[in-house]
Amino acid sequence: MQYGRKTVPLKNGQRCLLKSPDEGDAQAVLACLKQVSGETDYLPRSVEEVTMTEGKAHVFLLRMLNRERALMISAVVEGELVANSILEVVAPYMRQKHRAALTISVKKDYWGLGIGKILVSAMIEAARHMDYEQMEVEVASENRRAVRLFEQFGFETYGIRERSSRHRDGHYSSDRLMFLRL
Ligand SMILES: CC(C)(COP(=O)(O)OP(=O)(O)OC[C@H]1O[C@@H](n2cnc3c(N)ncnc32)[C@H](O)[C@@H]1OP(=O)(O)O)[C@@H](O)C(=O)NCCC(=O)NCCS
Repeated sequence: MQYGRKTVPLKNGQRCLLKSPDEGDAQAVLACLKQVSGETDYLPRSVEEVTMTEGKAHVFLLRMLNRERALMISAVVEGELVANSILEVVAPYMRQKHRAALTISVKKDYWGLGIGKILVSAMIEAARHMDYEQMEVEVASENRRAVRLFEQFGFETYGIRERSSRHRDGHYSSDRLMFLRL
């Protein structure tokens, strides 16, 4: 589905446009995903594993716009796409379709300006309209910023997935499985 465009103020006074990215944004969406994947170890893929072509991104964005219970919202600051968030059903089956999965990524230069909070808040509101009953996120346990962000909205940790990621230096990290009843 498509998010109605909205402009909101950030903590530093800049204006931030929230919108669903369309076909024309494929390159910017990919660039943002690549950049954040290189800036943090907290996303599933490392930067060299972000191999989606612009053509495939184009198709993905169109599909997000056309799916009734899926939503992508990007944040644009002074013409630069700086964050993406995706909400989609965990699995489209009768027994799972009450569950929405959420992911968020913000370019590091824009952390701490409130974009994470703005996106989570917009997604919670949208998920309620889409008749989801709960929202789920998987967050690296060390990712204090993200854990804090989700806890502020009432997300609770219902489990820990041990050894969820194995890093280049050989150490393992766990994920917190968090959820919010809508
Ligand atoms: C996690 C992430 C989405 C947060 O985005 P953000 O735009 O920086 O978030 P906000 O500016 O809205 O801050 C949200 C909250 O994070 C917490 N926070 C901010 N800086 C923090 C810090 N240095 N340490 C701990 N918590 C911090 C605060 O509780 C803050 O709320 P407050 O402003 O009311 O104090 C962003 O850091 C990111 O994209 N990280 C990489 C990808 C990722 O981890 N995604 C999450 C898993 S889906």
